[in-house]
Amino acid sequence: MAMLDIKNLTLEISEGDTTIKALDKVSLSVNSGEIRALVGESGSGKSLIVSAICGALPAKWKLTADRMSWNGENLLSMSTQQRREVMRRDIAVVFQNPQTSLDPSVTLGEQLEESIPEEFVKGQWFWQRAKHRKKIAISTMHKVGIKDHNTYLKSYPHQVPSDIGQKFMMAIALVAQPKLLIADDPTRGMEPTTKTQILKLLTRLNQTRALSVLFVSHDLLAIASMSHTMTVLYAGQTVESGKMKHIKKRPLHPYTKALLDSAPSFRKDLPPKSSLPTLKGSIPTLQHLPIGCRLGPRCPRAQRECVVTPSSRRIHDHIYSCHYPLHREVK
Ligand SMILES: Nc1ncnc2c1ncn2[C@@H]1O[C@H](COP(=O)(O)OP(=O)(O)OP(=O)(O)O)[C@@H](O)[C@H]1O
Ligand code: SF4
Ligand SMILES: [Mg+2]
Repeated sequence: MAMLDIKNLTLEISEGDTTIKALDKVSLSVNSGEIRALVGESGSGKSLIVSAICGALPAKWKLTADRMSWNGENLLSMSTQQRREVMRRDIAVVFQNPQTSLDPSVTLGEQLEESIPEEFVKGQWFWQRAKHRKKIAISTMHKVGIKDHNTYLKSYPHQVPSDIGQKFMMAIALVAQPKLLIADDPTRGMEPTTKTQILKLLTRLNQTRALSVLFVSHDLLAIASMSHTMTVLYAGQTVESGKMKHIKKRPLHPYTKALLDSAPSFRKDLPPKSSLPTLKGSIPTLQHLPIGCRLGPRCPRAQRECVVTPSSRRIHDHIYSCHYPLHREVK
């Protein structure tokens, strides 16, 4: 059974008289011990999905799903308190803009130490516990690649470079030993060595501690080798998902193929809203979504039938939504 199991998640945002489906029947799952990549161009809705999982969307937005569960428990029907408890105990999130997620008025050391669950701290007396808490904080900093702990423990978020802030967010997320880590583009803008360090750390934690990871990224090349499975998102719709090795070898959806063919150009971070060199045009804004398959105007295989939204089809554990998939005879 999937730990995180989302089926047909739809998010409607109302602006004035118009209602926009920012997410349209998105399905996504993460199994125990799995690293799943969630990829898609800038603006495809990756961060909206992360916020939906965390329960962090504005209350006035309409979120519905056939299923949205954590270890069999329905996340949508939970009370705020129960949802918080699940997030505290089992799921940690590194948000896309780490610097804005840190409290500017509290030192990084205090923020990290506060995130250590009480049950992990040993010692009978308060000074013993404080000492052990600090020891855990320092060893976690070293794990995420922050060497100079003496300086940074006492620093405030605005006093440190952004990559140190990002690493601190990673440390805060990991120190509670979550079952699932959701990392929303945590390596964007990082220099290659730091990026490799973070990817290696997550791979190691996945292998040694069975940490499950939902790795959200526009950087397919960086995560392709570490992820077991992948879900591809386009303009708020899931277009393909399955085992990474199968998708890399034989993508069925034209958008996935374009994304894979563009991968070499992702070697350096592309600025947000960059267009894919292998597809004409750019991702539509929510206000100008085409009817039917949202890739239609950009798709080299589009035909008349594509004005009807393709339903998702499954071949074993490979799922795709396209009327005219690659590598398949269409009757
Ligand atoms: N608060 C908001 N109000 C209205 N629209 C929003 C809001 N937040 C996001 N959107 C819209 O939802 C769409 C998806 O945004 P999202 O931030 O999830 O994209 P993303 O895939 O995470 O992109 P990136 O790779 O740049 O982080 C975009 O068109 C964006 O403009
Ligand atoms: S459904 Fe049509 S437009 Fe959409 S990806 Fe498939 S062929 Fe292209
Ligand atoms: Mg995002």
